Amino acid sequence: MTNIDPQNLPRHIAIIMDGNGRWAAKHTMGRISGHKKGAESVRETVRACRELGIKCLTLYAFSVQNWLRPSSEVNGLMNLLEEFLHSEAQELIDKGIRLTMIGNIDALRETVKKVLEDVILKTSQNTDMILNLALSYGGRDEIVGAVKKVLRDYAAGKITPENVTEEYFSTCLDTNALPDPDLVIRTSGEYRISNFLLWQSAYTEFYFTDVLWPDFRRDDLMEAILAYQKRERRFGLTSDQIQDGQGKGQGNSD
Ligand code: FPP
Repeated sequence: MTNIDPQNLPRHIAIIMDGNGRWAAKHTMGRISGHKKGAESVRETVRACRELGIKCLTLYAFSVQNWLRPSSEVNGLMNLLEEFLHSEAQELIDKGIRLTMIGNIDALRETVKKVLEDVILKTSQNTDMILNLALSYGGRDEIVGAVKKVLRDYAAGKITPENVTEEYFSTCLDTNALPDPDLVIRTSGEYRISNFLLWQSAYTEFYFTDVLWPDFRRDDLMEAILAYQKRERRFGLTSDQIQDGQGKGQGNSD
């Protein structure tokens, strides 16, 4: 495989981890076994991103809509998440990885919330990489939350309609200080955005692979990054303008 260019890495990779259920069916196993295997891919992907120098990785681990799945599957996913946070905490601390989350933390059960808050706090000073988990997350839900924040700021006299800019609105989203994703990967051959980072993905490059998430390994990540590096990010400009360096300062092109 051609080497990836360390000078042109996506600063922020976000992944829609899809295909756990189909992986389980293919191996005549229950859906939770697919999610368990998917947790191994999470571990490997976090390690690979850290080693490659990716600064931010967002994983779509549980959507607002996922609450509607059978309660046995929801419980199984929450158990896995809790186990993952307990087992990975020390590695995150040691490797300089800061854990953050987007979505509704209060919707999570108490035991998950507790360990999540604990690891977020213990890793809050880490600066090498951010692992951002989307939990009970929905893009529309997040935008509605941001509008409520704008209205609260308006009521408190902190903002006027004239002051509402894209930059200000971005700070009202859950992602707040995070850079927009440069690359969104979706596994399992589905071509949808599924309510993920709707505002933030305005200029994101998308990469779709047929690989089911539990089979996703370091080489698949490298392939996605290589594909990203072959793209020309134009941010609405022409190709000639980009060659002249006018796209500098947009996204990760600075
Ligand atoms: C989508 O596959 C996957 C999910 C809804 C959950 C993702 C969870 C994990 C990868 C494991 C735990 C996460 C962490 C962070 C430890 P699907 O069930 O929709 O698959 P299908 O479309 O094939 O049915």
